[in-house]
Amino acid sequence: MRTRRKLEHLRLALELPLGPGATGFEDVFLVHNAVPELELNQIELGTEFLGRRLQAPLLINAMSGGINEARDINESLAMLAAEYGLGMAVGSQIIGVEEDACLESFQVVRQVNPGGLVLANVSALAKVSVAMRAVEMVEADGLQVHLNVPQELAMAEGDRKFEGVLDNIHELVERLPVPVIVKEVGFGMSREVADKLISVGVKYLDIGGHGGTNFIAIENERGGLFDEEMALWGIPTAVSLIEVLSLNREVKVIATGGISSPLRAAKALGLGADLVGVAGILLKVLQGGGREKLSRWMDTYLYRLKAICLMTGARTPFELRRQPIVIVGKTAEWLRVRGID
Ligand code: FNR
Repeated sequence: MRTRRKLEHLRLALELPLGPGATGFEDVFLVHNAVPELELNQIELGTEFLGRRLQAPLLINAMSGGINEARDINESLAMLAAEYGLGMAVGSQIIGVEEDACLESFQVVRQVNPGGLVLANVSALAKVSVAMRAVEMVEADGLQVHLNVPQELAMAEGDRKFEGVLDNIHELVERLPVPVIVKEVGFGMSREVADKLISVGVKYLDIGGHGGTNFIAIENERGGLFDEEMALWGIPTAVSLIEVLSLNREVKVIATGGISSPLRAAKALGLGADLVGVAGILLKVLQGGGREKLSRWMDTYLYRLKAICLMTGARTPFELRRQPIVIVGKTAEWLRVRGID
């Protein structure tokens, strides 16, 4: 059952467009600087995350593993991560830990990229022993634990019990030898949820907002229990990011969810994200043109990200935070109603 579901998720993520629904970044504007007084080769995209050097603030986010078809995909993504100095998370490893299923499809990610940032991935309800094995399996630098309540409820065969998540996350944070990153899978995190997670000791959040890969739309195609209107459920990525950052707490924030373009990445970094995560679009590019096309796509993405930094007068993506940023439309209205400046 799990194997079939994973295959269908891969197939549908490739077939369906990103969305429906907006990321909120259409309401966010970086202000053009006509006199940036910079050269392109002065723009530095590199950063550090969990003790690893990255050549750009980019994470190839959790997608696959545990089925034969995932091995080549993960190998290609890991090669991209190694070539461009990016971080990478593997897909949920529960199937690997509980069924020993296709372990190589996970392990290949570390084998291809021995010095890179690699993240393990399990459910936020996973036991400590399962999480430990997931970390060991890929010699991970950190563990992602995913929250995906709407996806489970949309699935006929999905989980129905979501109590005890905060206590479990607290235990994982306390007992795991690596940092724990709590991540949503595309429905976003509110300020209140982030606050609760931080209060149980979480220091890393991936807000995984709405507007990119949509697991309700995917489950609808698999004969799920929700409908088209419910595929609009969730907090748009830009909105979620601003909500969480408005807490002003000691937490590193990864922005994922429809960040399929360098302009959206720049906006997320300008709003204050420490890293941006990219998932579904990479599968589509890989399937459309293989490894060569994926590398060219990444060249263009990074060139444009540098260009956007320069066009605002920022020497690094983190200097984007100090440049003027304008938020209009529905996103501004949401923030106003929520009392967030
Ligand atoms: C995912 N995602 C995901 N997340 C997770 O924590 N564990 C997982 O096993 C998976 N599996 C998975 C499979 C496929 C095919 C896709 C496309 C995605 C969610 C992913 O990491 C990310 O949070 C969302 O896809 C939102 O990002 P994008 O796709 O809009 O860039």
